[in-house]
Amino acid sequence: MTQLTLDMILEGEPYASVEPHHMDELSLQEVIVDLNVGSILNCGGHSYPREFWLDLMTRIQDKAKETPNQIPVLYGIDAIHGVTYTDNSTLIPQQIGLACSWDTSMVKSLAETAAYEVRASGIPWNFSPVLDIARDPRWPRFWETFGEDVKLVTDMGSAMVDGYQGSGDEIDSVHVAACLKHFLGYSVTLSGKDRTQAWVPERQLREYFLPGFEEAINRGAKTIMVNSGEMNGIPVHVNPAILTDLLRNELGFQGMVVTDWEDIKYLVSRHKVAATYKEAIKMAVDAGIDMSMVPTDLEFPVLLKELVEEGEIAEARIDESVRRILQLKFDLGLFDAKVPSLDDYPDFASAEARASALEAARASIVMLKNENALPLNGGERLLVVGDNANSLNVLNGGWTRTWQGVDPQYNTPDMPSFLEEVQSLFASVTYMTNDQFLTSRGVSADHVIAFLGETPYTETPGDIEDLYLPGNQIEVIGKLGELTVPTSLILAEGRPRTFGELPEGIDAFILAMLPGDQGGRALVDVLLGEHNPGGHLPFTYPRYPSAHTTYDHKYTDMMHIDFSTNAVNPLYEFGDGLSYTKFEMSDLSLSADTLAVGGTLEVSVVIKNTGELAGSDVIQVYVSDSVATITPSVKRLRAYRKVQLDAGASQEVQFSIPVQDFAFVGIDNEWVVEPGVFGVLIGDMKETLIVK
Ligand code: GLC
Repeated sequence: MTQLTLDMILEGEPYASVEPHHMDELSLQEVIVDLNVGSILNCGGHSYPREFWLDLMTRIQDKAKETPNQIPVLYGIDAIHGVTYTDNSTLIPQQIGLACSWDTSMVKSLAETAAYEVRASGIPWNFSPVLDIARDPRWPRFWETFGEDVKLVTDMGSAMVDGYQGSGDEIDSVHVAACLKHFLGYSVTLSGKDRTQAWVPERQLREYFLPGFEEAINRGAKTIMVNSGEMNGIPVHVNPAILTDLLRNELGFQGMVVTDWEDIKYLVSRHKVAATYKEAIKMAVDAGIDMSMVPTDLEFPVLLKELVEEGEIAEARIDESVRRILQLKFDLGLFDAKVPSLDDYPDFASAEARASALEAARASIVMLKNENALPLNGGERLLVVGDNANSLNVLNGGWTRTWQGVDPQYNTPDMPSFLEEVQSLFASVTYMTNDQFLTSRGVSADHVIAFLGETPYTETPGDIEDLYLPGNQIEVIGKLGELTVPTSLILAEGRPRTFGELPEGIDAFILAMLPGDQGGRALVDVLLGEHNPGGHLPFTYPRYPSAHTTYDHKYTDMMHIDFSTNAVNPLYEFGDGLSYTKFEMSDLSLSADTLAVGGTLEVSVVIKNTGELAGSDVIQVYVSDSVATITPSVKRLRAYRKVQLDAGASQEVQFSIPVQDFAFVGIDNEWVVEPGVFGVLIGDMKETLIVK
């Protein structure tokens, strides 16, 4: 039930292991043999070669064999966009970038590759996916999610779990145990800052925050990590209503629940709901946690044992958690597996894996404006502006080789930054920092690209005081808009930072939501038309910091200062995304105009590529409810399909939508479908359905 961070068995102090990192034999003996610690996580602050990981795992598991029961140690890692802490692994877009693809089968396939490379590192447990939904662009973990919509998060999350775990209860040697996080209600703090208080009424909790977890649990997810925050004044780590009544008794979760980082101790030092560490342990174990991510003290198992000896915690309760942990170790085959050797995984960081990461990076790029500016032909004299333009780190974001992802020394070798890729493919490229551009007088270039956005961050270090783009970037955007030559803005960021209006004078706007190691190549492929962009926003892009609403807002959110109802005025809408070709949709038709509550609606629509180039578009089917006992959203996404069409081709696309999908959580906090008049919307087409 005790999980310690790797630092605890390396030479040196926690967060300050002696370089080059190496095992501290005495600590290993004390942790594994004396204390019988059953789980270890994380790296010692940065990524390692695969050889290091395999040697480490061998030493840990050999030490475990010296214990009476020889129970193998369960190792967990954050491989959240590929195997972040194994050198040279294949790094794919972060979840927000994957969500821009709207392609769940691609997400599943990428997760399979990531699982393979995690196992190739000797590790069987991945703290991924994040199933929180990103309702607040201020939140620093926005980019770790699949966006703001419940259905998209649910579909993508389950695809990722399927990819990580494979099918069936046993998890074989090329799959890993997934970890759904962070259960529950973690992403909507009042302040928009990480791990601060959240108020989430039960109705909203059930309608927006639970479905992604519920579906993934039903798909067999093996583990869950708990939200570090406090919801409605109760830290989730001590809330049996969430961790036992809801998770175990209502959802029937059988797997293992692990705390987040140091969260039992934080009950004393942060939340102040326990006076002592020992009291906090009792509260958390009583609430329903199975394993404590301690992760830097040796007291937890000692205090827990005392609590059992003092009768404060029943041994049967310990057995419950131990059984779940052992079951997971059995399901992962840890009892009979040997630690792999280097050549057991020949496809680690393979060319195919790199190619699929490039495809994913391309699919993650969203083009939001293009007025005859792109694509380019490579012969243009380019001016590239942007302090971040030559950084690979800004394309990967946090959790990249180091926790915060800011240290280039561990970057994957031979991966080009955006600027490097542009320089290798364009004959004439001039580069300017923000300041050089702002102080320059006139530019001699055929096209000017400003590459702006955010530098990497995650968790509390990523908290912000202001949603506007930081530093002098707004001025750069303003000056870019005044140039008379064609201009493009590229934002590489983890959350939609605001900059007010996009100046008319900027001809093209491209969004790169942390596309990963291949992001530089993918962006230049889009600039050159090698890839026809097909990404679509999985979130609403706000125009101003204090004017953000999600697409599934309520009608009252539209109230404006002049009493009109057009206050909802985002810069770009959920689902937006352009292509170098054009698509038209027509002939929306429903299989019926009246259906019973238990019925299924068949929707069909024709999509045509009316442009000159092959490309993809995402058909999005929304349903609106005209009257309901709980205020209805203006619309909810109920189905979608990504469609690839050659120039001139058209296709009839069908959707089957159970009327049950129109349900919402009602007055008594139960899911309900109410008869009434519904709208079925695709693009600017709308048909009406009556549910009896
Ligand atoms: C971190 C994060 C969590 C991560 C865990 C282990 O604090 O909140 O997402 O999986 O600790 O690194």
